[in-house]
Amino acid sequence: MSDFISALPKAELHIHIEGSLEPEMMFALAGRNGVKLPYDSVEAVRAAYSFANLQEFLDLYYQGMSVLLREEDFYDLTLAYLRRSAADGVKHTEIFFDPQGHTSRGVAFATVFNGIHRALQDGERELGITSKLILCFLRHLPAEDAMATLEAAMDYREHIVGVGLDSSENGHPPELFTAVFAKAREAGFLAVAHAGEEGPPAYVWGALNALAVDRIDHGNRALEDPALVAELAARSMPLTVCPLSNLCLGGVTDLADHPLRAMLDHGLFVTLNSDDPAYFGGYVNENYRAMQQALGLSDTVLGQIARNSFAASFLDDETKAARI
Ligand code: HPA
Ligand code: ZN
Repeated sequence: MSDFISALPKAELHIHIEGSLEPEMMFALAGRNGVKLPYDSVEAVRAAYSFANLQEFLDLYYQGMSVLLREEDFYDLTLAYLRRSAADGVKHTEIFFDPQGHTSRGVAFATVFNGIHRALQDGERELGITSKLILCFLRHLPAEDAMATLEAAMDYREHIVGVGLDSSENGHPPELFTAVFAKAREAGFLAVAHAGEEGPPAYVWGALNALAVDRIDHGNRALEDPALVAELAARSMPLTVCPLSNLCLGGVTDLADHPLRAMLDHGLFVTLNSDDPAYFGGYVNENYRAMQQALGLSDTVLGQIARNSFAASFLDDETKAARI
């Protein structure tokens, strides 16, 4: 890893905490909780990580979550991610969590939240990493489920900065969640949504116009629509780009063809992130490194992307200004 990338202070804005569950921890938690996994070794889990598309990944991602049952599990998961990220020069992180992936298995919202939240507090003390928490709705489930999850989150309003939208994109357009996001925004939550990862440009328009998002997660397919690119540029809309994720899920077949190049050329407000690092073979620095190598990015551009990550964060303006 180049010293320059390692030393760059950065914020991570697109990380699913459940996607940081390394196979070693998956096995340890399965043992601790008496959960039977359909693999007999860590190597067998890793060998299963070959995905043709988003859905193939999601199937394993939800299966992996089955070992997370107790508050301590969410705590250990989160603290391990923070320690690993701190080693990558991450100074601030905005973590997605998927409560419906847990409440649907009988794990209480409070168990999930308390474990993650306590780790974020301890992580800040131990490592100096600041953080925000973003609750994601699973878009393959009905909007009523999302609304009930938002209700449950109201008790934790002061500790959750925003809401997001993830899981299977195609066939689940943003407009299905218009009322949920309107209610969330009314309650003071900021908003983000995965859009244009696999879905068409219309879904990115939907995230902007129906959900009034503050950032777009991925946004790759926005490049197919010149008017949308112009809109994203005019709004200085941050995109949380995740190159190794795109490579692993078949969004690009070669990183040399990654849309980051065109995004930069169009003056879009891009950041680099890991998405689900335990599944996609790299934490944030590996994503910077992969793009540097594939696109020949200069230190100046890499530095700008790292500054973008703080500028696009949900930190307050004063804290941001001190870090950019
Ligand atoms: N895309 C959509 N949903 C997700 C992802 C992703 O990459 N990771 C976890 N949930
Ligand atoms: Zn994601």
